[in-house]
Amino acid sequence: MYLRNCWYVAGWSKDYEHTLKAQKLLGENIVFYRQCDGAPAALEDACPHRKLPLSMGQLEGDHVVCGYHGLTFDCTGNCIDSPTQRGMTPRRAVVRSYPVVDRYRLLWIWMGDPEKANPDEIFEIENFDNPDWGYTDGGMLSIECNYLWVVDNLLDPSHVAWVHVTSFGGGGTGDQPLDMEKTDRGVIVSRWIYDQPPSPYYNNLVRFEGTCDRKQHYEMCVPAIALNKSVYTPTGTGGPDKPAVADTYVNISYNFMTPVDENNTQYIWFQHRNTDPCDKAISKQMNDGAIMAFNEDKEILEAVHKGMDAMTTPHIDLGLDLGAKTFRLRLQRLIDAEQKDTEHA
Ligand code: FES
Ligand SMILES: [Fe+2]
Repeated sequence: MYLRNCWYVAGWSKDYEHTLKAQKLLGENIVFYRQCDGAPAALEDACPHRKLPLSMGQLEGDHVVCGYHGLTFDCTGNCIDSPTQRGMTPRRAVVRSYPVVDRYRLLWIWMGDPEKANPDEIFEIENFDNPDWGYTDGGMLSIECNYLWVVDNLLDPSHVAWVHVTSFGGGGTGDQPLDMEKTDRGVIVSRWIYDQPPSPYYNNLVRFEGTCDRKQHYEMCVPAIALNKSVYTPTGTGGPDKPAVADTYVNISYNFMTPVDENNTQYIWFQHRNTDPCDKAISKQMNDGAIMAFNEDKEILEAVHKGMDAMTTPHIDLGLDLGAKTFRLRLQRLIDAEQKDTEHA
């Protein structure tokens, strides 16, 4: 069961063109395309006649023509031609259509009741248009695990001490206590670590010399969007409620998890920093480093998924799991409430 009445990232906008593209999201087969004017469209990827994937057919103008007997659909999913019996199109010749919106270089899809789709509810990327901020190209990984393992991982600042030794790890990441806070949209797990060298990934990104006070802010938002903020500020200037100083470096990693099915996750991310907005070399360095680190997560999470599936003795939880467990509970309650609403509708 997934939360449906919300916006998920389907993919990078640049990867959708005037051609048919098949994807599975939340266990549903969907065909995406752009219409002649560039507007995105998404339809159920199954012809109502013999369920041939429409993605195996042809895109003609703004219409999708089934590759078996030519039933033709517009972007709303209505059948507008049935060549084998013109004038007698069956009333049930219709496929589901999904609301889709391009925003922040990403294509967003609404997987629930189309009547409820409101683009104003798309997750907001603050400072996206701020010319003082720079972002990376970002990336995409297919991870063979349930999306909630990725969610757990992105509410877990401790794992960097073991999994990301050459990038995000560093003094204090293995043993400093964590704070957990519930928000309107999810959960934040965070902590300040004081007077340590920057982690290897940030070593030549921060704009000051010497040791730093460092904040790990791991925030998860419903349904599965993580905002992972790293703050590095000269030693003595960091701490709860202390204002940023001129040298304070902030990088936000945005992570978008979309379940493909119960055993597979599409993971998309980019990073957004408050320095060097136009420096392509820095963006590339950050992007390459992130891809390397997120592949480290992939290896761990795929093995965790398999390990938890095959366990023969009970597993345990640790204190570090509090944020993840709190978020999972919150999400499950929302899913249950949505299911109840659907049953009563
Ligand atoms: S399967 Fe699509 S028209 Fe027959
Ligand atoms: Fe990680």
